Amino acid sequence: MAVPGLIEEAKRADLLRFTTAGSVDDGKSTLIGRLLHDAKGIYEDHLASVEAASLRNGHDGIDLALLTDGLKAEREQRITIDVAYRHFSTPRRRFIIADTPGHEQYTRNMATGASTADLAVILIDAEQGVVTQSRRHGFIAALLGIRHLLVAVNKMDLVDYDAAVFARIRDEYARFAAELGVPDVTVIPISALHGDGVVTPGDRMPWYDGPTLLEHLETVQIDRDTAPGAFRFPVQLVLRPNADFRGYSGTIASGTLHVGDPVTALPSGKQSRVARILTPAGEVSTACAPQAVTLCLDDELDISRGDLLAHPHDLPQEAREVDATLIWMDPRALHLNHTLLVKHTTRLARGQVTALHHRVDPNTLAQEPADTLRLNEIGAVRLSLFQPLLCDAYAQHRGTGSFILIDPVSNATLAAGLITGVRAADTPPGSTRHLTRHDGQIGPAQRAALLRQQPATVWLTGLSGAGKSTLAYALEARLIADGHPCVVLDGDNIRHGLNQDLGFSPRDRSENIRRVAEVARLFNEAGLIVITAFISPYRADRDLARRIIGDDHFIETWLDAPLQECERRDPKGLYAKARAGQLPDFTGVSAPYEAPVSPELTLDAGGDPVATLVEAAWACLRARGIFG
Ligand code: ADX
Repeated sequence: MAVPGLIEEAKRADLLRFTTAGSVDDGKSTLIGRLLHDAKGIYEDHLASVEAASLRNGHDGIDLALLTDGLKAEREQRITIDVAYRHFSTPRRRFIIADTPGHEQYTRNMATGASTADLAVILIDAEQGVVTQSRRHGFIAALLGIRHLLVAVNKMDLVDYDAAVFARIRDEYARFAAELGVPDVTVIPISALHGDGVVTPGDRMPWYDGPTLLEHLETVQIDRDTAPGAFRFPVQLVLRPNADFRGYSGTIASGTLHVGDPVTALPSGKQSRVARILTPAGEVSTACAPQAVTLCLDDELDISRGDLLAHPHDLPQEAREVDATLIWMDPRALHLNHTLLVKHTTRLARGQVTALHHRVDPNTLAQEPADTLRLNEIGAVRLSLFQPLLCDAYAQHRGTGSFILIDPVSNATLAAGLITGVRAADTPPGSTRHLTRHDGQIGPAQRAALLRQQPATVWLTGLSGAGKSTLAYALEARLIADGHPCVVLDGDNIRHGLNQDLGFSPRDRSENIRRVAEVARLFNEAGLIVITAFISPYRADRDLARRIIGDDHFIETWLDAPLQECERRDPKGLYAKARAGQLPDFTGVSAPYEAPVSPELTLDAGGDPVATLVEAAWACLRARGIFG
């Protein structure tokens, strides 16, 4: 049964999302507390009317669904966005405040929470007047595409509710906002501490005849970008509870989708049509951003987490390099050409900031040359990606146009990024845009019947000296003895041929793994079992391999052996060289090894003899139905 409710819900104008920005002392928390407290009276009235409605509908007591309906999509987002959301409502509107309980990192709050905000409340301390931070907040809001600013001039009590102080701040900020190009700016005098101007006017500012802060929030006409934009759906989870059901869950990043619409799965480029759209509220015939949905397609495509569904006529670009505006949020300054993690939609890739074009002075909006970005600074950069990402410009698609940079060691958020341009010239020639796939006449089922096995890739990962090659060739021998066609791809061997142009920098290792994964996939398509023996030290690279090869076929196998033991074995004498400083970027010594989080198989490669490891791998293949 189709329930049309949610899409209407999403379109309804009675929901306002806003974000708050202010320096630590500007009274942000006091304001939110005041707003929630004073609005509570109103909220309770609202509750009473909901109760009445629930009773009319025959419910016992309050039907909480009446309060929370339509907020489900937002609640889903809470999982992925690192901000706290507070919900409150008055009879006129429902509100969602994006707010981090923390304080200093307000920029992070704005950049991550505000991307879905309609309006930004910018707090200015009446005693301090317009300071750099106030301008910076406005600038960031403008960068994020927020079209409504509410400037709350707080602490009016400390300036004796002086009309002239307010007028000076209002005029100064209005001039600045005009330069920003934000179409709607409203300035309101308040005292969050005493409550003046927040929910009720109070009687200490008779000279002010505009709305209170809440009145403005309740009545501001939201000029939402009504054009839905092209459809973008990053797959967050593949649902396969049984053989009959295969669904792809995630949040629609932009656009609208109908049952029957054609979709292209990227990066594979394969096409299908939407068969069903499931939402928390039931099955629907159409859905739009930012709903959380599960999609079923007409065809069984091999789609993994991190893939993206889009409309065939408007696809995002596969980017290896983008230009972006960065809002730097870490106390440590930006280092060019350091490897970082890039969180983009549901994907985590690695990359480097390779150039800083300029920094922007938030006071004058002037572009100035710079060689780094420090805490809270904003600049234009070039970001080079080790794994291609499916990108759009932020102006076209917020979801696929923004990203976060993460420190790979501390996991701290370093910066928020907004893509300003995808560097098309650097899009690899293999980009899926102008290519068409051809399907042969022989399908996987025929090959499986011929070879009496399902294809699979046993992806061995572990430190140098863990015994990957030894296990790979022993397992190969065991499989061949059993009559199972298979092949080994070994790091040292492949690096003599196909990958002889690659070294051991993070970028080269990524490319090494990408190529090997492509080769493994081809062998899998031919029906063979593949065993790969590569250190593959980076999680993001192994995830990429998983996506290329397909979740169904990928068996991540961790040869877990202590570094000490590998170093003791040192079969090639490389640890000794690395310790002597003669071998840079050596995994475990001067380059990291990121252990698998949830591998299909973990082997005790430091203790168990090879024969035991072979049996464990063989049993795993059998248990997964690779052969009978
Ligand atoms: S990976 O990191 O890109 O997966 P791969 O498995 O292909 O590495 O190659 C690792 C092999 O290259 C090691 O077994 C070792 O023989 C050799 N090697 C040479 N230099 C290095 C290095 N700096 N780090 C790791 N392995 C190295």
